Amino acid sequence: MPDKQAKKILVINGSPKREKSFTMTVTRAFVEGLEQETGSTAEYVNISDMNVIPCRGCLSCWGRTAGECVIKGDDIPMLKSKLEEADFIVESFPLFFFGLPGTMKVVTDRLLGMLSTYRGEMRSDDDEQYHRLRVQKEGQRFAVISSCGFSESAEVFAPLKGQIDLILGKKGYTMICCPELKALIDTGKERKLPMYLSKIRNAGAVFAKDGTLSDEMTAELSKPPFQPQTYRMLTENFWKEQEGSGTHDKNSG
Ligand SMILES: Cc1cc2nc3c(=O)[nH]c(=O)nc-3n(C[C@H](O)[C@H](O)[C@H](O)COP(=O)(O)O)c2cc1C
Repeated sequence: MPDKQAKKILVINGSPKREKSFTMTVTRAFVEGLEQETGSTAEYVNISDMNVIPCRGCLSCWGRTAGECVIKGDDIPMLKSKLEEADFIVESFPLFFFGLPGTMKVVTDRLLGMLSTYRGEMRSDDDEQYHRLRVQKEGQRFAVISSCGFSESAEVFAPLKGQIDLILGKKGYTMICCPELKALIDTGKERKLPMYLSKIRNAGAVFAKDGTLSDEMTAELSKPPFQPQTYRMLTENFWKEQEGSGTHDKNSG
């Protein structure tokens, strides 16, 4: 008999680096916590492996075709059905120019038909989203995990957060921002990184139980791992090495 309680976990990896993604190091730990707590196994989708035709901007999905996109023959319908069936959706991607990486944006645009139409309605408060999902599985929860190279987490993630707030509503998702992540992965293997990943694993378990994380917890997990002077020295050394090496580091960025 199928387990009625089995939860579906969908992880969307939006880093062009696929498995080598730094963000995915954090996401995998979060998902471990989520899997342990739910007893389910997550399904992973790499955006960079998908065939996605960009949105044509016709808005048919909001009128004529009621939720259906007119573009056929690519991987968006497959992603759409996975999104509709998932209990937990975890989006993982790097911060590119203070926002979504282009590939993630192209996919997001194609999902417009999943949202209800905008009919001039005003939001009654700042927490509300502009769009409702046409179909949403009961209890479905979203988490966003993103990483970047800069230190000032609140400031550099603000444009991205503002965009997701308007789409999903401030209370419609949980977000963990990981500043200075490459340096943490490169230099913190002994102590700092395992400690951080253990906190992230715990956050995944809390997210599975409560469907959200407290503001205190996300703030704690989004703090830069290094003191400003240390980070400046680490980045200075990194770029000096890169500039002198004459080689191309496929995993930098
Ligand atoms: C095109 C591009 C744009 C980027 N823009 C930013 C940025 O605006 N702010 C920032 O702090 N880091 C920026 N970064 C650095 C990445 O966000 C960072 O290295 C991230 O941890 C990489 O994650 P990944 O390994 O999961 O792809 C950028 C990197 C690239 C390649």
